[in-house]
Amino acid sequence: MTSTQSWGDNVLVEFEDGIAWVQLNRPDKRNAMSVGLAEDMNKVLDALEVDDRCGVIVLTGVGDAFSAGMDLKDFFRATDGVSDVERMRAYRSTRAWQWRTLMHYAKPTIAMVNGWCFGGAFTPLICCDLAIASEDATFGLSEINWGVIPGGVVSKAISTLLNDRKAMYYVMTGEKFDGRKAEELGLINEAVPADQLRARTVELAKVLLAKNPTVLRQARLAYKYARYMDWEQAAEYLTAKADQTTFVDPERGREEGLKQFLDDKTYRPGHGTYQREG
Ligand code: COA
Repeated sequence: MTSTQSWGDNVLVEFEDGIAWVQLNRPDKRNAMSVGLAEDMNKVLDALEVDDRCGVIVLTGVGDAFSAGMDLKDFFRATDGVSDVERMRAYRSTRAWQWRTLMHYAKPTIAMVNGWCFGGAFTPLICCDLAIASEDATFGLSEINWGVIPGGVVSKAISTLLNDRKAMYYVMTGEKFDGRKAEELGLINEAVPADQLRARTVELAKVLLAKNPTVLRQARLAYKYARYMDWEQAAEYLTAKADQTTFVDPERGREEGLKQFLDDKTYRPGHGTYQREG
């Protein structure tokens, strides 16, 4: 069943078969991200984390843009003339959804890049777990072209996915690139023709929805935290995380998977997910 809900003036969420299509909804402004949009996105992400209609989030944009980046008028102009504290609050609100919340979200996230993707839009793109783009989507670190650096956490975010030569090239030239190039750079998982974008995203979301959600959450978070640890710390952390996963998993997935493989011999982990109830 499909239903649609607006969050403030800036975000539209469509629920369909376990997928929450979270759509930045300022098509007239190419979904540029304003302070108001940040406030709405913080509310949306907070609500969807405990909403049973949402098993996977797909982040995308209404119209022909994913997002044209930070709103140069509403964000920069609006925060130029205010007090330090107000400015700090605006930045914190934006960073909260674009980075902190998305990076460590309780549910899997896919960015679906349907068109323009510039500057600040790289942060939520990179902080989603996975990303699919239309081959003809246009990406760019355009900041250098209008007199600023890739700020917020954009420079940090790109350094987690691109190698230094490639990242520096785009930081310094502001050159645009398409979805195919984004795939080659490792910025996204894959680029597909525009008319297959939604179908391929649904296909991927369904793979995620079929997994044990507790184990999937633990696996995503374990990867994201372990990559910043040294080997000794990671070994200890991951062993403890694995034990924690067994402890908190209401499905008892580990037990069930081992039973189906080793005892019942009804299933092979190499071929897919163990048979889950329901
Ligand atoms: N901030 C504020 N407003 C923006 C915006 C942004 N990042 N991107 C687009 N808009 C606004 C335009 O000002 C215009 O508003 P108006 O109708 O009130 O004049 C409206 O959105 C449509 O934009 P327009 O430039 O006419 O659309 P286009 O389809 O010709 O071009 C882009 C699309 C994305 C190529 C172009 O808008 C652009 O270069 N935007 C800035 C991208 C950028 O550098 N972002 C980095 C920010 S960190």
